[in-house]
Parts: sequence; C-alpha cells; structure tokens
Amino acid sequence: MNAVPLHLPTLRGEHVRLREWRQSDSAIVRDASHDPLIPLLTTVPDTAGEPEALAFIERQNHRVASGAGYVFAIANEDDRAVGHIGLFFANGAGARASIGYWIGPSERRRGYAADALATLTSWSLKLHDLDRLELYVEPWNVGSWRAAEKAGYEREGLLRAWERIDGRPRDMYMYARLTDRARTDEASP
Ligand SMILES: CC(C)(COP(=O)(O)OP(=O)(O)OC[C@H]1O[C@@H](n2cnc3c(N)ncnc32)[C@H](O)[C@@H]1OP(=O)(O)O)[C@@H](O)C(=O)NCCC(=O)NCCS
Repeated sequence: MNAVPLHLPTLRGEHVRLREWRQSDSAIVRDASHDPLIPLLTTVPDTAGEPEALAFIERQNHRVASGAGYVFAIANEDDRAVGHIGLFFANGAGARASIGYWIGPSERRRGYAADALATLTSWSLKLHDLDRLELYVEPWNVGSWRAAEKAGYEREGLLRAWERIDGRPRDMYMYARLTDRARTDEASP
C-alpha cells in the first residue's frame, strides 16, 4: 500500500467514463449482488440491501484514500454506473499491477468491459515505474478473456489450481501486457 492517498482521475473511453464511486450508484451494486460469481470474487455483498451497497461504495473510496489502488465506477454515456474496475499494485507499489472488473448482470454484452479495460490499460501503461499489467481469468470466462485480448493482453499460460473460489481450487489463465519500456529492457542483455 502507498503511504499517500491516490488522486483518482476521470478517464474517458470510447463509450464509458471511469470515475469515482458515488452514493447514488448503489443500484448497480445491488444488481451485482445477484450475480453468482461477483460476490465470491469481490467485496460486493451477497445480499442486495441498500445499506450493504452503500458500505461497498464507501469501501471503494477508502481504497483510493489509503493508496491501495485506483478504483473506478464504470459509467455509461448517461453517467449511470454499470460496473466496476480497479488497478492494484503488487506488494504495495512499483513494477507490477493487476486489474479486476465486473459489469452488472443487467448491463452485459454491450461492450462496457472491453471499453473500460482498454481505457484503464492505456492510462496505466503511462504510470511511472510500472512494467507489467496482469489479469487472472478462469478459462470458461470467455467474455472476460475476449475483453482482455481486445485490450492487447497476451495469454501467457494456465495457472493450475491458482485460487480457491467458493472452496474449490480454480485454474486461471494469466494474461499480461507490458509497458513499452519493459519490452525494450526485456529485449536487451
Ligand atoms: C466478464 C464480464 C466482465 C464481461 O462484461 P461485458 O461488458 O458483458 O463484456 P463486453 O460486452 O465488453 O464483451 C467483451 C467480449 O466478450 C464477448 N462476451 C461477453 N460475454 C460473453 C459470454 N458470456 N460468452 C461469450 N462471449 C462473451 C463479447 O461478445 C465481446 O467479444 P467481441 O467484441 O469479440 O464480440 C461480465 O460478464 C462480468 O462482470 N462477469 C462476472 C464477473 C467477472 O467474470 N469478472 C471478470 C473476472 S476475470
């Protein structure tokens, strides 16, 4: 974790805007609570109550304030939140970071994940002192790895039994994208 609060920019994609989470975004958190996977992978509550949704939003803004990572609501062209995306530094700060994302069940298959991931990726690649962005995606999750490939990530391999989800070990594809500087340095002796 960084010692200082992060400053959260607003990022513009082709159709989405990545911006801070607001209390008025609770409907999409409650929508995500109905998803079978999202509450298992994230801190989205598995109950769709308003107080729990507001507490989730409060936690996102705290993550930025504490320097844990850049956490955005994904907003559509009407500025309505449709999902979530965040960038987290490995071991606190520095050369490696991972990205996680979800789109509310009622807002899928409209290109939001692909647009949000491409937008956050191109901004992150310019961050000082970053070499590598990573995504972990279960092989069955075609929507997620298609979004990754559209944003220029390469599949590096299969991490077997990488993470327990719902008590079961799950395989993950490891996707990564390197900064230009890391690519250049990688090629030199
Ligand atoms: C995975 C997820 C983020 C995709 O969000 P989305 O906004 O529906 O994705 P997009 O509309 O941007 O689609 C991206 C690509 O995947 C395809 N796709 C999306 N969902 C798909 C599905 N269920 N099956 C097959 N392809 C799918 C789209 O057609 C598109 O491909 P194309 O442009 O080549 O046609 C969303 O389903 C989700 O939040 N799932 C639960 C949480 C999760 O899995 N998060 C990611 C963890 S790694």
